[in-house]
Amino acid sequence: MNIIEAMKERRSVRTFDGKGISADQKAALEHSIAGAGSPFGGSVTIRLKQFDLKSGYRPGTYGMIRGAELFFLLAFGPDEASALSAGFRFEQVVLEAWHAGLGTCWIAGTFKGSDFQHGESWPTGEELKVVCPVGIAAAPTLTEKIARFAVGSKNRKPFDSLFFSGDFSTPVSPDDTFHEALEMMRLAPSSTNSQPWRALVTGSTVHFYYAPKSSISVLDTGIGIRHFYDTEQFHSHAGIFARLTSAPTPPDNWKYLTSYTRR
Ligand SMILES: Cc1cc2nc3c(=O)[nH]c(=O)nc-3n(C[C@H](O)[C@H](O)[C@H](O)COP(=O)(O)O)c2cc1C
Repeated sequence: MNIIEAMKERRSVRTFDGKGISADQKAALEHSIAGAGSPFGGSVTIRLKQFDLKSGYRPGTYGMIRGAELFFLLAFGPDEASALSAGFRFEQVVLEAWHAGLGTCWIAGTFKGSDFQHGESWPTGEELKVVCPVGIAAAPTLTEKIARFAVGSKNRKPFDSLFFSGDFSTPVSPDDTFHEALEMMRLAPSSTNSQPWRALVTGSTVHFYYAPKSSISVLDTGIGIRHFYDTEQFHSHAGIFARLTSAPTPPDNWKYLTSYTRR
């Protein structure tokens, strides 16, 4: 499986086999955490935390997660750069886990913070904002099926409602050199499947925006930009991100985040 296939096939997994993963698999996850970088700066910490299911203790996820004994914890600072980096960095870990046969589910709302926070302390300014179970997927419970149905997890917004070329009313042509990378962005996971990411292509530059939906829309957009960037890397395209003072002014209430220029 290559990274494009992983992005196409990945889905959130909320039901696990309860057996845990091997020491080698755990070491590979630690390696992914160490390798997950970001060009956006900010302050982000990613950790793995083991719970002992045999002791009967279950960290609180309001019934959403079953059979997971290993969780990623994601803490980050209150600023925009930290949220963007958190999404960008941690989605790399999620995709590498899927590639290695392990399921995950970003959890920002449905978890009891004190259960996961117990015994942890974070660099100044950072707070635990996301947890994420990881393990071997089992058949989904009814609760998981209902959760997926409730937020329409299978669906994504139409490509032409998200991505534009030249101006904010012209769709990106299927022949455009950025079409595939933007399509991979479209498939990314987001909180309540809100898909806040938007983009405008001008020549060899792509400007990224978000349509604010919640306090984690910037984090979500960082996840989408990871999918875009991984596609660029897969095709050996080099490029750089920069926040431009001259980025085109977006419509509605969209907010500008960053621009990517292919070299
Ligand atoms: C930042 C973030 C936060 C999320 N928080 C939750 C959550 O609290 N509870 C939950 O069940 N799913 C959560 N999800 C999973 C989304 O509902 C899911 O990614 C989306 O519906 C798309 O489905 P898919 O991941 O299967 O493609 C979250 C996803 C993201 C990216």
